[in-house]
Amino acid sequence: MKHYLSIKNIDSLPDWVSEARELKENPRAHKSLGEGKTICLLFFNNSLRTRLSTQKAAMNLGMEVMVMNFGSEGWQLEFEDEVIMDQGKSEHIKEAAKVVSQFCDIVAIRAFASLTDKEKDEAEVVLNGFKKYASITVVNMESSVAHPLQALADAITLEEQNTKTKPKVVLSWAPHPKALPHAVANSFVEMIQLQNADFVITHPKGYELNPEITKGIQIEYDQQRACENADFIYVKNWSSYSDYGKVLNQDSDWMMTQNKLGEAKFMHCLPVRRNVVVEDAVLDGEQSLVVEQANNRTYAAQIVLKKILDEIC
Ligand code: CP
Repeated sequence: MKHYLSIKNIDSLPDWVSEARELKENPRAHKSLGEGKTICLLFFNNSLRTRLSTQKAAMNLGMEVMVMNFGSEGWQLEFEDEVIMDQGKSEHIKEAAKVVSQFCDIVAIRAFASLTDKEKDEAEVVLNGFKKYASITVVNMESSVAHPLQALADAITLEEQNTKTKPKVVLSWAPHPKALPHAVANSFVEMIQLQNADFVITHPKGYELNPEITKGIQIEYDQQRACENADFIYVKNWSSYSDYGKVLNQDSDWMMTQNKLGEAKFMHCLPVRRNVVVEDAVLDGEQSLVVEQANNRTYAAQIVLKKILDEIC
């Protein structure tokens, strides 16, 4: 594995989940593996969990960590080729990626979707720009269309909590005042398709995800019906994909409640808006897995970094 950009870069999800759980038992077991190696975390957008868990994972492996809030501290980057740079952008990705490659062995990048230009977002210009011009390994810490570190942490959490051969897993849209990207939902869908699960997606009409990602998956527009007899309900807002980046619906009836949750475990990637996306009773109840999901972000990042270090060391 040269880069970790998508859940598709995992050769065997069960093996990775199992190895991540072993790391969780003894996080410092490979504390010499990353000695003399440096990871640079570049954030074009805000973060709490991704930043701290990836840093913690690298430290557990003995790596040095450099973090830069590129969006607010870096020069504005140009990604177009053969452009006359006489406007606001000061530095080209060609130089930036090569320069970063001199300072570290792995570069991890967070760069969200703009939600204004579908074609540009799907081209993953930031992530692919670094992939093209950097000479080191690139890790996706949430890009325009994917959040594979979150999906791997979710796979670990599901494995820890599941008691059934084929659990019913529901991905439910929920309302939100702002337009949010599709990355978490996309990667969750890709991850769950690698599991033995009875999987249903529920959302209002107009919120269909990229049909290439959801091909063959059951979509139920009645949220109550979708949630019946569920074992796990993963709640997430995303903006419209067909009417790209638009908020079409803020109907509070789609908020996750204890009544709809039933006996299911509640999952969300965080951050979450209380009493908009999900009611307090769910988040504060014993069926909520959100804090454990966040905890598992460390071991998801750690197994990814360990696999990379095993190759480059
Ligand atoms: N779930 C997640 O990626 O959290 P942060 O945005 O805080 O990193």
